[in-house]
Amino acid sequence: MITMVPKAELHCHLEGAASPDLVRKLAARHAVTLPAETFDADGNFAWDDFLHFLKVYDIASSVIRTPEDYRDVTYQYLMDCAAEGAIYVEVMSSPDHAAAVGMSYTDHLEGIAAGIEDARSESGIEGRIIVTCVRHLGPERGVEVARQVVANPHKLVTGFGMGGDENAFEPRDFAPAFGIVHATGLPCTVHAGEVAGAQSVRAALEALPVQRLGHGVRAMEDPELVRELADRGIVLEVCPGSNIATGVYGSYSDHPLLELRAAGCRITLNSDDPPYFDTTIGREYDRASAVFGFDDASLREVTLTAIEAAFVDEETRENLRQKVVA
Ligand code: ADE
Ligand code: ZN
Repeated sequence: MITMVPKAELHCHLEGAASPDLVRKLAARHAVTLPAETFDADGNFAWDDFLHFLKVYDIASSVIRTPEDYRDVTYQYLMDCAAEGAIYVEVMSSPDHAAAVGMSYTDHLEGIAAGIEDARSESGIEGRIIVTCVRHLGPERGVEVARQVVANPHKLVTGFGMGGDENAFEPRDFAPAFGIVHATGLPCTVHAGEVAGAQSVRAALEALPVQRLGHGVRAMEDPELVRELADRGIVLEVCPGSNIATGVYGSYSDHPLLELRAAGCRITLNSDDPPYFDTTIGREYDRASAVFGFDDASLREVTLTAIEAAFVDEETRENLRQKVVA
């Protein structure tokens, strides 16, 4: 069952959206042999904890080598989302992953933009790009990515963010990178409160000019911080399937989504890295219904929250809103 409530996704890593089949196809395209242990016996990605996941993710991403590859990954992911009723998707791109295989910032962007345009003409889905840096690669690389964003303005690049290992470095180390981008008016988000606790969320909010948080769920460990998130209207890009898969929570009954929502936090539903976590945006909506008890009106509200928080121009936001309330 995939509920046909219109959906919006604010948090999906593009490299992490490539299915195992597509990764194998791209490996064949470039005559690359991936380590056998990249996949399990069923052909799915094989990893056993969060840091191992990041490693396997890097290995699998290394077959995305040309603008055409990026176009194909983007196109397939957006078309899959559209088939599940998504009307809007923000993809996180990672110039560092592109650079690791010798691709320039502008080439990787061109490929992603082509995938977004092709998917829009075929399905009507809107897409935007959040360029992200990788926390464990360090602040200097973050500044380099930020400079590339600013030096190459692109109509589909509408935000900046950071993923990677939340336990590496401190948010304030990345204030220069975020400052470079934010000074041009681009809005920002950052992963915080996923694999580290409330203090990590607090540090991110204090140091970085963000209006959304990737995950943010472990803010729940500090009631005062939860109140602050609610008061400031910080939008949480919640990824329940991801949190269960990576072991942040042992079961859905331990997941704080409902408590955060009850405390007045603005909640969205997201897939993060769909094939790694055996999820999709549609399955996240279905699970919110089956596990968290959301009815269709509540799911529409989730989509409206995502649209209010989307990094888009006001005309697009209004068009998207109309598709949800219609
Ligand atoms: N990069 C890709 N997926 C990620 C996640 N779930 N957390 C942090 N960085 C990531
Ligand atoms: Zn993420």
